[in-house]
Amino acid sequence: MTPSHDHLQRLLGHLGDADLDALLGRSMLLTTDWSTAELDAVLTLVDTFQALDDAGIRTPLCPEELHLALFFDASTRTRASWAGAAARLGARPLVVDGTSTQVSHGETAAETGTMLGMTAHALGVRHDLILGEGNTFMREMRSGLDAYLAATGSERRVPIVNLQCDVDHPTQTLADLAWLRERFPEGVAGKKIAVSWAYSPSYAKPLSVPQGLITLLTRFGAHVALAHPEGYDLIPETVAAARASAEASGGSFRQVSAMDDAFRDADIVYPKSWGPYDLMLQRVGANRAGDKAALAEIERQALERNRAHTDWICDERRMGLTKNGEALYLHCLPADIGAEVTPDVMEKAVVDVAREANKKLYVIMALLAAAKVEDLATTLERLVAG
Ligand code: CP
Repeated sequence: MTPSHDHLQRLLGHLGDADLDALLGRSMLLTTDWSTAELDAVLTLVDTFQALDDAGIRTPLCPEELHLALFFDASTRTRASWAGAAARLGARPLVVDGTSTQVSHGETAAETGTMLGMTAHALGVRHDLILGEGNTFMREMRSGLDAYLAATGSERRVPIVNLQCDVDHPTQTLADLAWLRERFPEGVAGKKIAVSWAYSPSYAKPLSVPQGLITLLTRFGAHVALAHPEGYDLIPETVAAARASAEASGGSFRQVSAMDDAFRDADIVYPKSWGPYDLMLQRVGANRAGDKAALAEIERQALERNRAHTDWICDERRMGLTKNGEALYLHCLPADIGAEVTPDVMEKAVVDVAREANKKLYVIMALLAAAKVEDLATTLERLVAG
């Protein structure tokens, strides 16, 4: 038996112990909607799908289905991961530019959910640019679709996967956690993780990645330090959730105002940019009013604000502050090289961050298979047995 078969058998054993039936029909809209045991089961599925793929074992669990993703923002990795996951599950992927739909003419989220969900077998959505809107849009899609399915007596399972909203980026943070569990097989409990703001000249980035990280990693016993300059706060509810989770898990959560403080003695660092909180809030009204000039002015101010913090960069000196000077560098990508991170730090990490990104494909496979396939553990065992 080869090591990969041993690894697969171990994973299948863990899946046999997990309550996968509890995941049937589930949508992933926020990781905080799922229990830690459920997330743990998803992470085991992630490892299983990757091991199956590595072993060349095909997984056509959703044959001839349509897996449709709606993107209201740019994407390279998540879009490709959605398509790659569909292909490996035997489904057909369709990626739709959200701005090309009738949403731009006032179609409601509930109607969009119903129309797409009656056609497709699984839905993904990225809607991350405006605070207060993206996750609400996804929940309204879910409600509209559920009401339609109930009214028509349909028992179809059409999960919705959040491919990044204003609050969370679950497929990213689960990919990050899957990568961390590969690098630290003992788990992230007790590990010191720096989630830090970093300078960006490119655009005012969403808050969802740092929010998703602090709410997820604290549930698994990590010691999370969140660093940012004054004015770059996150949504208060996400910070409160991180504090509560850290207390419950035996981890810890602290907020600091210097990148060095977060980096000191860290096992893992995750430096990335996000927009100033007050300006991100101002975008809400400007967007509702359709005021493009106001949105452009807010963006200009955000970048000007960022320019006051060009020293918030992940460089060799800061990496030297971490545990033994060799913390694992993470980034959701794309990174602003020369701004968020120096070229030399990125050059050393370039393969690692690609492997981190690659996990997202298996996260999407895991979420969709768990939501759609009955007796999933047995089905996977049969695929391995050939
Ligand atoms: N990290 C991430 O979500 O990448 P994309 O924006 O390219 O999908």
